[in-house]
This record gives sequence, structure tokens and C-alpha cells, in this order.
Amino acid sequence: MNWGMENRLRRILDPSDGRTVMLAVDHGYFLGPLTGLERLDRTLEPLLPHADCLMITRGALRRAVPPAMRIPVMLRVSGGTSIASDEAGVSSLSNEALTCDVEDAIRLNAAGITASIFVGTEHERQTLTNLTALVDAGERWGIPVMAVTAVGRQMARDLRYLSLASRIAVELGAHMVKTYFCDGFEKLVEACPVPVVIAGGKKVPERDALELARRAVDAGAAGVDMGRNIFQSAAPAAMIRAVRGIVHDGLTVDEAWQLVEPELAR
Ligand code: R5P
Repeated sequence: MNWGMENRLRRILDPSDGRTVMLAVDHGYFLGPLTGLERLDRTLEPLLPHADCLMITRGALRRAVPPAMRIPVMLRVSGGTSIASDEAGVSSLSNEALTCDVEDAIRLNAAGITASIFVGTEHERQTLTNLTALVDAGERWGIPVMAVTAVGRQMARDLRYLSLASRIAVELGAHMVKTYFCDGFEKLVEACPVPVVIAGGKKVPERDALELARRAVDAGAAGVDMGRNIFQSAAPAAMIRAVRGIVHDGLTVDEAWQLVEPELAR
């Protein structure tokens, strides 16, 4: 047993139920100052007490998070692309490299490291070998690796594609997978023998986001890695508490909604 690896996994995933509420704020690595993340420090302050894990880049971690923070960090270590070059047709978002070495991840006391894979795109091989390089480093130093099944512009977020990408990530050694929820999600979880968390995706009405979290957990997800549907909500602290209630406390959508609705009405 790799004690460090096991300990880090149990810091990311609550040992009492194997689930996590991971707060994702890494979007700036290719989107720049996304709405809600302009002053990351202010955004994070009311949310961190309710998060099990924080997904973030090293630059943002150093600049916006006090070292006294006790929440485990899932460090985003892939990037090198931007929405600007993608929109200009100069490059594509799938053209990622590894952007942080494992020594710096250790220096930052990362509990996990994460990179995107773009299966079915021109950069499939490059991003899959990014993942395998990371798994080699993670195994060497006892740091779990989470694969993010990113989706190219033309790719459908359906069971066929997402379970293909998720299973490939596991076969290549990923210790966790982050993907999108889709119809038939329980089949994806069944074929993916590591903890699977779902991304929230673009901002939708709060109740819809709670519904998404409930359906994902019911289908076997180990929780969420949610960003925009929390920090872009008009009631972000209520949203993360409600999501937490769904992930850890078995709240129904109606029960969780009762935590959010009054805060939205203020
Ligand atoms: C993409 O920018 C990142 O990997 C995010 O961490 C991921 O998409 C989850 O955030 P959201 O819930 O906003 O989709």
C-alpha cells in the first residue's frame, strides 16, 4: 500500500461515505477572468468552509488562498491554451501540455493533481500521454491523479463518448475521473472502477443544478466538482451548502432547494 496515496485520497473523498464536494475555481487557466472569479479571494471566503476539496491552479492558489487554509487542494496541472486562440481558429483547447511539475505540486502540498484529456480530438494522444506522465509522477510520489474528460467543441456529451474517455483514463492509471453527467450515467460508473465526480457545467437555474447533483449521486457519482453553478449563483454559500446536503446528507432536491430559495429571494 502506498500510504501517502491512500491518505491523500481520503482527504479528497470523505472517508465516512467516499464522497466529495470539490469546489472548482480553475477556469481562469484558459478563460481568464471569468465572471465570479475576478476577485477569487473574495469569492472563496464564504465558500471554503463548505468545500471538501478545492480545484485550483498554482498561480491562483499562491495569490488568492491563505496558507492557513486546511482544505485539500486538487491542483490543475494542464493548460497552455486559451479561449482566444480557440475562437480565432489558431489553436484548439485540446492542445494542452502539462503546466506544473510534480515538485511544485508537492511544494504546494497538493492532495491531488489533475489534467484534461481530449479523447476523439486531434490532440488525443498528446493529452493521454500528459495523463500517463502525471500518473507515473503521482505513483512515484504518492499523489492521486484525477483525469478530466474534457469535451472538444464538436463532441457530444453522451454516454458513448464520456464512458469511452472515462474508461481510457482508468486504464491509463487515473485514480479519479471527473466527467459530465449524461443519460445512462450508472453504466459509465459501472465501467469506471475509480471514484467519478461530475462537473457542473455552464450556469443553469439553481434548482436544475441541484437536480443534476442529485441524479449524479443517485447514479453512483462520488460527488461533484462544481464551479459556475456555485460561484455564479446569486446565493453561492447557500448553493454549496445545498449541494453538500445532497452529496453527504441524502437531501432530496426539494429539501436542498429550501436552503437556496429564500437566499435568492433576498
Ligand atoms: C474547466 O474549466 C474546469 O476543469 C472546471 O473545473 C470544471 O469544468 C468544473 O467546473 P464547472 O462546474 O463550472 O463546469
